[in-house]
Amino acid sequence: MKLLVTGGAGYIGSVCAARLVESGHEVVVVDDLSTGHEDAVPDGVRFVRADVGEAAPALLAEGFDGVLHFAAKSLVGESMQDPGTYWTGNVVTSLRLLDAMREAGTPRLVFSSTAATYGEPERVPIVESAPTRPTNPYGATKLAIDHAITSYADAHGLAAVSLRYFNVAGAYSRFGERHTTETHLIPIVLQVASGTRRSLSIYGDDYPTPDGTCVRDYIHVLDLADAHLLALDHAAEGSHQIYNLGTGTGFSNRAVVQTCREVTGHPIPAEFAPRRAGDPAVLVASADAAAEHLGWKPERTDLHTIITDAWEFTCR
Ligand code: UFG
Repeated sequence: MKLLVTGGAGYIGSVCAARLVESGHEVVVVDDLSTGHEDAVPDGVRFVRADVGEAAPALLAEGFDGVLHFAAKSLVGESMQDPGTYWTGNVVTSLRLLDAMREAGTPRLVFSSTAATYGEPERVPIVESAPTRPTNPYGATKLAIDHAITSYADAHGLAAVSLRYFNVAGAYSRFGERHTTETHLIPIVLQVASGTRRSLSIYGDDYPTPDGTCVRDYIHVLDLADAHLLALDHAAEGSHQIYNLGTGTGFSNRAVVQTCREVTGHPIPAEFAPRRAGDPAVLVASADAAAEHLGWKPERTDLHTIITDAWEFTCR
């Protein structure tokens, strides 16, 4: 297929673009490099540096079989302080992309949605039919885009799949996580181990969890990429399918730090700090629907493997 990958210079987008190329697809990446890196664009890919909403009409007019839409603003804290950037950067841009797809007759869309669309869960593991009550503008904008996609599928026959990522980690070859502003636990812990960050705070040790720290469902970025390939194959005209992507197993923040110590051989000093606003105690996916309907089975579910791959990338 000829595929447009928005945000293909970012962490998840670059891994997925690399896997798409390896699977024989023709890939064009569009990315404004606001958070991505040009050297993360895989070989064999045409790269267009541009705003996705502005570039989409002319690009899609060339004729594409589908779009994988990764480009987004994705920092929860930033979204609370500067919501306008998120509503414009995520929702307005996505609406422009959807209209350009309709205009050009692009048949398929795979969209990067998020566990943040659910907010504080009533029950874990979280199923796709759980209430969507995002607790921050980041999650609210992703949910708004999901709603827009549903109506475009209903009205215009778009074949769409939204994938709701839980905590993505790990790396693939030269493609990994390197955000200028890093807020995610595993890269921060590994920065302490590598000496590029001085200290680590674990936010909260008084949660109602077995060891008092938050529990998250870590999914290897390569398993995540596999799900995108399956989603492209399973997208069906006039339907918007939504799947959670996690492993169904949670690891506590303490367990993550301890595993990082084991993988790196570094003591990684950590101190406990007050809870971070808006952090749910436990976020674990039910991945049953993705298994049943996409045939997706994550293979790198072991935290040690995920962290080892992230560490190799950190040490490059
Ligand atoms: N944490 C620390 N110290 C740090 C950084 C994080 O203790 O320096 C903790 C957090 O408080 C949280 C856990 O590590 O308990 C995981 O935090 P991350 O920031 O790595 O990930 P989140 O679970 O907050 O975020 C994930 C996705 C987001 C999504 C969110 C939904 O990465 O895209 O889940 O709540 F919005």
